[in-house]
Amino acid sequence: MIYVLGSINNDISLELERMPKKGETIIADGCRMGLGGKGANQAVAIARLAQRYGTGHTAVKMIGHVGKDAVGSELINKLNALEVDTEFVRQVNRSTGTAVVALTGKDNRIIVYSGANLGVSKSDVDEALQNATGSDILVCQLEIPMYIVGYALRKARSIGMTTVLNPAPAKELPDDFYPNIDIIVPNETETQILTGINPRDPDSRRAAIREFHTRGVHYVVLTLGSEGSEISDDDRIYAHIPARQVRVVDTTAAGDTFVGALTLTYPHIGMYSFKEACLFATKAASLTVSRAGASESIPTFDEVCALYNHEIK
Ligand code: ATP
Ligand code: RIB
Repeated sequence: MIYVLGSINNDISLELERMPKKGETIIADGCRMGLGGKGANQAVAIARLAQRYGTGHTAVKMIGHVGKDAVGSELINKLNALEVDTEFVRQVNRSTGTAVVALTGKDNRIIVYSGANLGVSKSDVDEALQNATGSDILVCQLEIPMYIVGYALRKARSIGMTTVLNPAPAKELPDDFYPNIDIIVPNETETQILTGINPRDPDSRRAAIREFHTRGVHYVVLTLGSEGSEISDDDRIYAHIPARQVRVVDTTAAGDTFVGALTLTYPHIGMYSFKEACLFATKAASLTVSRAGASESIPTFDEVCALYNHEIK
């Protein structure tokens, strides 16, 4: 089982010709609302890409909070429809998290109102993980309180679970987080904030990866947007994976798709290399950037296969 602990947001995406200047009001060309939030997007990516395993049961459980409001109920319905188990999603007396996503052809800027996401508690984690075992995986991001993420990583480690952290949005992490992280997946901004190294070229990227290893992380993936990713596994085998060339429509949830796809394929490492898992994640993320929206832009396994003739046994 994969547990995703994190945010669930109502995304309001505005299509703009350009970003507004200071003090300026501009008219959007389009507006969409949909299921978002880094946690929810990663859970959806796992569920949609998991279909090939034909396990007949839900592979992913979401742990999080939405408001006791119509939007919150709708987001839960959407998660259920996408085959994310919502047993551990609670509706609470706060507003549902909201993200305003400003999109231009080449850029996205996101403002998040955390709302209900900030109420996720230790007892939510305890309840959700009470039947977890060492063969399960925990995935976290940083859109819920940091100390809850730290608590969950520690607890997962004590159970023997595999842990994945997407340290987004960018914030400094306490040093004692790192030994409890098996796989870290930061983007360029997050890498710079966490390591103090700007990952602008191959040497600096590998220096940043080494820094994560030194702090205790086993697998590192620096995602580099249209430049792909720089990765390193437990044996310190480094590789660069170029992004796939696609027509970019909306990059929202590219990183979330990557994290979800990697998490799903990770248990099969042993049969496959970490690099192969990242190649699959790169293909899945490229489909996400070629479509509009957050969770609704995430492909299924069959869509990834159809586009790339990808075979994973
Ligand atoms: P977001 O916050 O938009 O979800 P992120 O900043 O967390 O994304 P990125 O590094 O931008 O993550 O992207 C994650 C992965 O998605 C990249 O490693 C790459 O494989 C793929 N990707 C991102 N942008 C593009 C692009 N323009 N073309 C093709 N693939 C892309
Ligand atoms: O990673 C993309 C997500 O970040 C959006 O769906 C938005 O809700 C913000 O949390």
